Amino acid sequence: MRYQFTEDLVTGNSLIDSEHRTLIKAADDAMVNISQGKGKESIEKTIKFLADYTKTHFKHEEELQEKSKYPDIVAHKEWHRNFVRELEETAKNITSDGASSVMVIELTRRISALLNHIRTQDKKIALHVAQQA
Ligand SMILES: [Fe+2]
Repeated sequence: MRYQFTEDLVTGNSLIDSEHRTLIKAADDAMVNISQGKGKESIEKTIKFLADYTKTHFKHEEELQEKSKYPDIVAHKEWHRNFVRELEETAKNITSDGASSVMVIELTRRISALLNHIRTQDKKIALHVAQQA
């Protein structure tokens, strides 16, 4: 499975979209490394970058919600928190047990949840921010 920043993921907010572009590239890099059984060091580096960048991006997105008084901020932050916890668990499993087909499935599941979140929830933030301007 390869990941690309496609039209259906565009929210219309330039900050969110540019960070999502980096995030999806990070997901693709991690997945390529894991599914192609690249070296341990390379796998760990890409999965760590994915987990770290996810946190950085979520922080920025939450700041944007705070500034614009986004009404659904509590639920959105809660989703971010749960996602980070699950992604870090996957990253930890991959780091300790190595890449396996089970891990490929687990990571695929995490990334597809993130893409769905972008398509639905993040588009709502972008719309809200645009309406505030
Ligand atoms: Fe989000």
